[in-house]
Amino acid sequence: MRFLSTLPLLLGAAFALPSPEDIQERATGSLSSWLSSENTVALQGVLNNIGAGGSKASGASAGVVVASPSKSNPDYFYTWTRDSALVFKALVDQLIAGNKSLEPLIQQYISAQANLQTVNNPSGGLCSGGLAEPKFEVNLTPFTGAWGRPQRDGPALRATAMIAYSRYLIANGNTSAVNNIIWPIVQNDLSYVTQYWNQTTFDLWEEINSSSFFTTAVQYRALVEGNSLATQLGKSCPNCVSQTPQVLCFLQSYWTGSYALSNTGGGRSGKDANSILTSIHVFDPAASCDSTTFQPCSDKALANHKVVTDSFRSIYSINQGIAQGSGVAVGRYPEDSYYNGNPWYLNTFAAAEQLYDAVYQWKKIGSISITSISLPFFKDVYSSAAVGTYASSTTTFTSIINAVQVYADSYMSIAQKYTPSNGALSEQYNRADGTPLSAADLTWSYAAFLTAYNARANVVPASWGASSAKLPNSCSSGSATGPCSAATNTNWGNPGTPTTSNPTTTTGGSCKTTPTSIAVTFNEQKTTSYGENIYIVGSIPALGNWNTANAVALSASKYTASNPVWSVTINFATGTSFEYKYIKKAQDGSVTWESDPNRSYTVAGNCAGTATENDSWR
Ligand code: NOJ
Ligand code: NOJ
Repeated sequence: MRFLSTLPLLLGAAFALPSPEDIQERATGSLSSWLSSENTVALQGVLNNIGAGGSKASGASAGVVVASPSKSNPDYFYTWTRDSALVFKALVDQLIAGNKSLEPLIQQYISAQANLQTVNNPSGGLCSGGLAEPKFEVNLTPFTGAWGRPQRDGPALRATAMIAYSRYLIANGNTSAVNNIIWPIVQNDLSYVTQYWNQTTFDLWEEINSSSFFTTAVQYRALVEGNSLATQLGKSCPNCVSQTPQVLCFLQSYWTGSYALSNTGGGRSGKDANSILTSIHVFDPAASCDSTTFQPCSDKALANHKVVTDSFRSIYSINQGIAQGSGVAVGRYPEDSYYNGNPWYLNTFAAAEQLYDAVYQWKKIGSISITSISLPFFKDVYSSAAVGTYASSTTTFTSIINAVQVYADSYMSIAQKYTPSNGALSEQYNRADGTPLSAADLTWSYAAFLTAYNARANVVPASWGASSAKLPNSCSSGSATGPCSAATNTNWGNPGTPTTSNPTTTTGGSCKTTPTSIAVTFNEQKTTSYGENIYIVGSIPALGNWNTANAVALSASKYTASNPVWSVTINFATGTSFEYKYIKKAQDGSVTWESDPNRSYTVAGNCAGTATENDSWR
C-alpha cells in the first residue's frame, strides 16, 4: 500500500501512472496463470471422486461423493453429508455459471440423497434423527462404527445445495421437478433443522459436542431459503417461519467482542476457521455488510478474519517471517493436533474467498465502512485506516479495495506455493515444510478452490435472502416438529405432468418415443394422525415382496385436512402386473393393513410415460 500511495510523489505528473489493476496484474501474473490451470485440475478432481463414473470413486453409487480416495491413513473412503453438500453446492453454482454438463450429476446427487434419507443409521431413522448421521458407506449403507455423531449441519447444507438447484430449475421453467422431486427431500431436511437446531451437535471437525457457530449459521440460512422456496411453490413452511428468528437470535450469542466463538464447548480459544467458513457459506451478494448474518464484509466477520488468521501466524514454521497484512497458511484452529495440527488447503482458500466476497460487496454497495470493531483488520492492510465511511468516489475506497484484493490473492499464493506441480490437493500441508499431508485428493479441497476462484472472478452465487434478517426482541430456545416422510420420486426423465405445448404423440397418434417404463403415481386418501405414515407394499420386489419392512413410503406433501391424500410415484416396466395394498405404520412401528381383497394393477404403456391411480383406504 505504501508503494501505491507514494507513487504519485515519485513519478510526478510527467508520467502516465499505471492503474492499480495494472500493478496488481504484474504482481500476480504467476498467480493468475496458476489459478486458471488449477481451476481445470480442481473441477476434474471433484468429478473423479463422484460415483458411479468418477475414476477414483469406484464402488460409489451414482451421485455419491467420496470424501477422498484414500483408504488408509486416513481412511476417507466414505460419503459425508457435509462434504457432499458443499461439493454439490459448488457444482450447482458452476452449472448456473454455464457448465450445463454437470446437470445429470446434480440430479443423481439429489436422487441418492432421497434414498440416503431413508437409510436407518446409528443416529436414527428418517424421522427420528437419522438425517444428521455424518457419514455413510459409499454404497449408501450405514456406517456403524464409533464416530462423532450427530452432526447437525448436514441436513441444512444439503437443503441449501438442493434449493440452489431448485431456483435454477424454477428460473428455467421446470417448477414441476422441484415440486415433485426436490421439495419432499428438502422438506425433510428443513423439518430436521426446525426440530433440532437448539440441541448440541458435533462440530464440522467432528470433535466437539456443543453448540457450533457454523452449524447454527447454516441452519439459519437453510430455514430462510427453505421458506422462500416453499412460498415460491405455493406451499408453506410454518415451522421455518416460527424458528428462523430464534436461530438468528442464538447466532448472535457466539460473538465474544472481538471474534466469533466457534464452539461453545471443548475448552479451546474458539478461534477457528469454522467462523471463516461460516462467512463464505452465508455470503449473499444482495446483502449489505450486515453483521447479524455475518456477511463477509461485516465488521464482525472482518475482525474475526484477522483474529483467526493471526492465530496461525506464530505457530506454523512456514508462516515465520510473513508480515501482518500478508496472507498465511491457515489451519482449523491453533490447538489442533490431528496429524500434529497443520494448515488445510480448504481453510486457506476460505480466508481468500471471504475477502473476495467482501470486495464484491463493497463495490456493489458503493462504500466501505470502518468501525472500531473492524479497524484492526483494516490497519493491517492500510495503515492509515480510520473509523468512517468511504464512498466509492474517494481514493481511500480505491486504495482499500486494492489492498484487500492483494491481501486475498496472497492467501491463494500461499496455497499455490504448497501445491505440487500436478495441482493435486490433499487435506493438509505440513506446518514445517509445506509438503502435502493426510487424505490425498480431498474433494472438499478442490471444491473450496472452485468457490474461491469464482469469488475472485466476481462469479457470485445467488442471493438467499439474507437481507430479510430481523432479530426478535429477546431470544428463546425452541423446537418445532414438522412434516417428514420418504421422498420416493426421483424420476427426472419425466418429472411432471407433460405440458400441452410439448405434445408426446405425433399427429398420427403413435408416440414420438415409446416409453419402456411408466411413472405411476399412487394417490391414497387416508386421514392420519401425527406420527402415522402410509406405505404401499405388494407382490413384486419394487413393492417389497409383501414384506412391510420394505414397503415404499408415501409422501404427505400434498396432504391437507380437506384432502388427506398420501402419494408416491414409482417407475415400473411397461406390462408389469402386481397385487398391492396400502398399510399404515404408527410411530411405534406397528402396522395396520387395509382390508381384503388385494388390489391389482397392470402397467399399461402410453406416450406420456406417466399414469395415476387414485385409491382410498379400505
Ligand atoms: C477424524 C475426524 O474426521 C477429524 O476431523 C478429527 O480431527 C479426527 N478424527 C480426530 O478426532
Ligand atoms: C475431517 C474433517 O474434519 C471433516 O470436516 C470432514 O467432513 C471429514 N474429514 C471428511 O472430509
